[in-house]
Amino acid sequence: MNGKTGTTNIAVFASGRGSNFRAVLGRIESGDLKNACVAAVVSNNSASGALELARSREIDAFHISSRTHPDPGDREQALLRVLRSHDIDLILLAGYMKLLPRSMIKAYSRRILNIHPALLPRFGGKGMYGIKVHESVISSGVEETGVTIHYVDERYDEGPIIAQRRIPVRQNDTPESLAARVLEVEHDFYWHVIDHVINGTPLR
Ligand code: GRF
Repeated sequence: MNGKTGTTNIAVFASGRGSNFRAVLGRIESGDLKNACVAAVVSNNSASGALELARSREIDAFHISSRTHPDPGDREQALLRVLRSHDIDLILLAGYMKLLPRSMIKAYSRRILNIHPALLPRFGGKGMYGIKVHESVISSGVEETGVTIHYVDERYDEGPIIAQRRIPVRQNDTPESLAARVLEVEHDFYWHVIDHVINGTPLR
């Protein structure tokens, strides 16, 4: 929480369509998720739905990528500048496809969350994103999948787990049908965990 205002300033990092960002923002706007404000949105993809949504809500939106900042050191500084200039307390990854620089992970230890569409530690890691996750779940024959929210460290999908929700895999599931059910749960789950982290509400 921000000592000055009592509000937690959030930066959302997203690469794609941004439906999780939309769901969290909706809960802030409705008043369900209190003491939280999305102060900045960052994407490595100039065409991401997340940037578009941020701009439509007059939230500061930043495209920072190897195109805008070819030098990794410059890119890192640009990311840190956004966080500092917006007094960011908490970072939410919501479909962000890049590893964060070490300096950011150090500066925001236990203040960066990620959502993953499976039950980690299985079905995670480099290259395990999007429909590939659900294809692997189905071909492995497991009876359950789910959603994991965890703190972020230097490796893909490996930081300490905060909470998980379980979802049964149905016999006739396709990767697409499973993806749709998992996404629905994600939208109802992320904000609860953020509420827990910010306001100490019980996890459910
Ligand atoms: C979600 O499935 C999330 O779990 C994963 O990336 C996807 C992002 O979807 N990390 P969206 O951009 O929020 O719609």
